[in-house]
Order: sequence, then C-alpha cells, then structure tokens
Amino acid sequence: MHTLEIKDLTVTIEDKEILSSFSLTMNSGEIHAIMGPNGTGKSTLTKVIMGDDSYHVVSGSILYDGKDITNLTVDERAHLGIFLGMQSPVAIEGVSNADFLRTIVSTKEKENFKLFPFIKELDATIDKLSMDHDMVNRGINQGFSGGERKKSEILQMELLKPDMVLLDEIDSGLDVDSLKIVGENVMDYQKESHCGVLLITHYRRLLEYIHPDFVHVMMNGRIVQSGDFQLVDYIEKNGYEKIEKKQSNLGTCMMKEMAHHE
Ligand SMILES: Nc1ncnc2c1ncn2[C@@H]1O[C@H](COP(=O)(O)OP(=O)(O)OP(=O)(O)O)[C@@H](O)[C@H]1O
Ligand SMILES: [Mg+2]
Repeated sequence: MHTLEIKDLTVTIEDKEILSSFSLTMNSGEIHAIMGPNGTGKSTLTKVIMGDDSYHVVSGSILYDGKDITNLTVDERAHLGIFLGMQSPVAIEGVSNADFLRTIVSTKEKENFKLFPFIKELDATIDKLSMDHDMVNRGINQGFSGGERKKSEILQMELLKPDMVLLDEIDSGLDVDSLKIVGENVMDYQKESHCGVLLITHYRRLLEYIHPDFVHVMMNGRIVQSGDFQLVDYIEKNGYEKIEKKQSNLGTCMMKEMAHHE
C-alpha cells in the first residue's frame, strides 16, 4: 500500500504561477481522473510530481508514503515506483528502444534481472499492445507516429511495473482500436499490480475503459470540484463554464460572508 500526497503545492515558471496551492491524496488501488481546460496546469502537475526541475516549487510539498520527496531527482522518484506517461514523449536519437527498456528494467531489478525472461515479456507485451516488433530496434520514439509514442509509454509502464502511475493524455492521437487496446492494457496492469493511477484526459471515452473512482476538475492550477463518474457526464454536457461560474460565485459569496463578519 502506497500513498502519494500533494500538499498545498504552489509552482511557478518564469515568475508565472501555474499550480496554486494544489492538494490531492491518492492511494494504491485508486484511479483518479483529472479533467480541465487547456493550459490549466495538468501537465505541469504531472511533471512536478515526477521531479522536472524546470519548475520552481514556491511552497507546499509532495509526500510518498509519508516521506517528503519534493527535492528528489527524477531518477530517485522513478526508483520509488512513480511513473509518468507523458503527453508529448520526445524522440531520442542513438539509443534503441530495446536497449533503453533493458537498461531501465535491469536498473530497477538489479541482481534479479534476467535477460531471457525480460525478452520474453517484452515480446509478449508488444503483442498485447498490437505494436510492431521492429519498433524496439529503432531509436526511442524515432519516427514513431503520435499513437505509437503513446503505446510506447504504456509498454514502458508494463515492463517497469510502477506503483503510482501518472498518465497525461495517453488517449490523445489514438485511433478507436488503439484507444481500446491502451485502455485495456492499463486496466489489466492496474488490476494485477493494484497500483494507483492518476489519469489526465479531455474525453469520456478513455474513462469508459479505465473507470475512475474519483473525478477532479482542475482550473487555474487547483482542483475546484471533485466527484464520481457523474461529473464526467456533467462536463461532457455543460463544459467547464458553469463550474467556473459556480466557483467565482462561491468566491464572491465567501468575500461577502467575510465582509459581514468584519
Ligand atoms: N516551460 C514553460 N515556460 C512557460 N510557460 C509554461 C511552461 N510550461 C508550462 N507553461 C504554461 O503553464 C500553463 C499550464 O500548462 P500545462 O501544460 O500544464 O497545461 P495543461 O493543463 O496540461 O493543458 P492541455 O490541456 O492543453 O494539455 C500554460 O499556460 C503554459 O503555457
Ligand atoms: Mg497537458
């Protein structure tokens, strides 16, 4: 059982505040979905949890199993079992996908790593994801289509076997069949590993495969509303405008209330 706790996290980049007192706690076995308008800080959140140091943590903290990991490196966090499937995975020339996957898995498994079982699992997972076997011999994401890159992130996840999985728009750019395959692979892995999943998506479709226990709406760098699957239907029907209005009304009411007490 693991817990990832984000506490009052305020994050800036080039003096622009992106996360504003953001808080969220997730446990093993839970699936959380975050939805929200473009540019609201969702990808930033995942990158900051993973330890991307281009962002400046002004205040707040990230705890993993109660231990403060706010200042750990990306590698240290990955080693703890945190994994990020990125919205826009980059291509890296010169390192083949197969070598990269072998390196990350053997680094994690240390003396328990065995090459032949690894190759067997790699082949089986490539089949499960309906990927082309030749792709593992190419450079990481080199010439991969948008959908192939997303599948490649899921391949990494299945081989690395993380305990906390962050998936940033893993559905964008996937055709209907690939979406089903990716959704089913994530769900199978989640059931088998009992990992925690933080899923960022704009669409209901992915959430039909990966059914969230909690749905959060993020706006202006923080969660403004949480609920269950009904919230997804509400957003699909109404967009974010009403939630935003409700929030600003709430703000006005609170200010009136505060003025009243003074
Ligand atoms: N490196 C950076 N330099 C400057 N601004 C940045 C940087 N990274 C993120 N931002 C800004 O932070 C804001 C939040 O970006 P982020 O990528 O987290 O949004 P998002 O919620 O993931 O949006 P989308 O739904 O479009 O993926 C945006 O206004 C973006 O331009
Ligand atoms: Mg994003």
